[in-house]
Amino acid sequence: MLRCHAPFLLLSLLTVATAFAAAAPTAAQNYEKHCAGCHGTDGKGQTRLGRKSGAKNLTDKAGAGKLTDAELFRTIQAGRRDDQGRERMEGFGNDLSAAEITDLVAYVRRFTK
Ligand code: HEC
Repeated sequence: MLRCHAPFLLLSLLTVATAFAAAAPTAAQNYEKHCAGCHGTDGKGQTRLGRKSGAKNLTDKAGAGKLTDAELFRTIQAGRRDDQGRERMEGFGNDLSAAEITDLVAYVRRFTK
């Protein structure tokens, strides 16, 4: 009995594992979830929250386009503060893994390409 069910058991375990692997969020999904509210799906920052918070236009070649990968990474991970130390943008180091942030750097980069 067990012998003939074993292949099916294995197959269903594999199916479950594949489903979990596919469920890891992509950069596009992370951007929509964590960033688009302020920076907009198009990166221009023209959402209600974007205008209110003063979110930067991520399509600006002379602005965001000039940031290095390391600067983009640090901004996403640690957020931004003004000269008085007041938070301008929260950091996402607690919500996103280093790999997810690296993927987001590439995703943000597309806006100035
Ligand atoms: C609550 C609104 C808000 C959210 C959510 C938000 N940001 Fe920001 N972001 C800002 C603000 C405000 C600034 C400008 C900070 C400053 O003045 O230095 C900024 C700046 C940036 C910059 C620097 C751009 C430049 O030209 O210097 C990058 C890159 C960036 N955000 C990416 C992201 C990414 C990626 C996410 C999602 C993981 C995100 N932001 C989520 C509000 C937000």
